[in-house]
Amino acid sequence: MLLIGPFKQIITCAGWPLRGPIRDTAIQPIEDAGVLINEGVIQEVGTFDQLNKMASTVEDLKTPQVLIPGFIDAHTHICWAGSRANDYALRISGKSYLEIAKAGGGIWQTVEQTRDATELALQVALRERIYRMLSRGVTTIEVKSGYGLDQEHELRILRIINQVNQQSSVDLVPTCLAAHIKPPTWPGDYRSYLTAIAEELLPRIKAENLSDRVDIFIEESAFSKEEGADFLKKARNLGFKITVHADQFSSGGSALGRIWHAVSVDHLEAINAEDIRLLAESNTVATVLPNASLGLGIPFAPARRLLDAGAILAIASDWNPGSAPMGDLVTGAALLSAYEKLSTAEVLAGLTFRAAQALSLTDRGMLQQGKLADMQSYAVTDYREILYHQGQLTPHRVWKKGELIYEA
Ligand code: NIG
Ligand code: FE
Repeated sequence: MLLIGPFKQIITCAGWPLRGPIRDTAIQPIEDAGVLINEGVIQEVGTFDQLNKMASTVEDLKTPQVLIPGFIDAHTHICWAGSRANDYALRISGKSYLEIAKAGGGIWQTVEQTRDATELALQVALRERIYRMLSRGVTTIEVKSGYGLDQEHELRILRIINQVNQQSSVDLVPTCLAAHIKPPTWPGDYRSYLTAIAEELLPRIKAENLSDRVDIFIEESAFSKEEGADFLKKARNLGFKITVHADQFSSGGSALGRIWHAVSVDHLEAINAEDIRLLAESNTVATVLPNASLGLGIPFAPARRLLDAGAILAIASDWNPGSAPMGDLVTGAALLSAYEKLSTAEVLAGLTFRAAQALSLTDRGMLQQGKLADMQSYAVTDYREILYHQGQLTPHRVWKKGELIYEA
């Protein structure tokens, strides 16, 4: 049994509600505390001196630190090549994301650059982004395809994500986003593109065991609700879990996701009151992506109203070269909380066990007996410092399954 500590404070997130608001009174730090770990799994969290009696090995900290669960980023697109600095320059001077997309730029530009990149270049880019996220406390990362957009290139990206996952200490969760946009080179209509993905690509992904999750972008520049419905039905019938890029600029996608029992609907900047109410009654996680609002200069998703209605609110980075190039999860979450008035507990929940729910992962996201010892510490004595620095305070140490994998 390995004991790590003593920590000045441990915030476990254990016992907090899965949905709705959380007051900061729920936080209850354990002071002068330790974590007892066996084979990567937490045995007990408690007072260091008490746990010391049961430990065979002690990882002694020596300096004061605050421990919280590793972050789970439930929505990223970090397997890409190239840059969209040109898009960004156009946007800050006034062009909208949809205008750029309609003019043939945007996602398609990244698809061309990603197709042209070698496998090695994509692996290196992905690894570098994972390392940057690890250095900011992220221990589980969802990664979407969606910059291949034909069968071979989508398969190539998903294979790369799986290969890098095998070599990485951080866990990756691959998702097929072949339904990102219809490639301008596709000879048929929108439906025929989705049919080809559902009937040809998804069975291959399943046969190769590359992913069990399917995403679709429901939007003016991408796919309509009606086109999406047939596609999601087929994906569900093949046994895939569903997630949707929903209500980013116009509403409709979140309702579609909910109807098809999506594990999450993500974005929600443009969700309407009725859909907030219905989403809050469902088991579908509402994943908000503040970095996309920061990258596009548009209002944040109504995170406060979603929580008050009773939704399960996760916060993810959406790190991608187009709408969310900054990529820092905590910066986005801290700024979102300042504007939307979220409590520290609501933000921590959205970055940990509520995000785990969006990925159907029940083994992580809180520091509690039986959960994976995925943890991060900060060289401070008060947990409130973490959001206060708005992303500029980064972890001192990060552990994955009880193993120290990062030290500043
Ligand atoms: O989540 N909205 C669609 N997809 C991404 C953007 C991808 C891109 O622009 O490359 C998003 O914002
Ligand atoms: Fe996205």
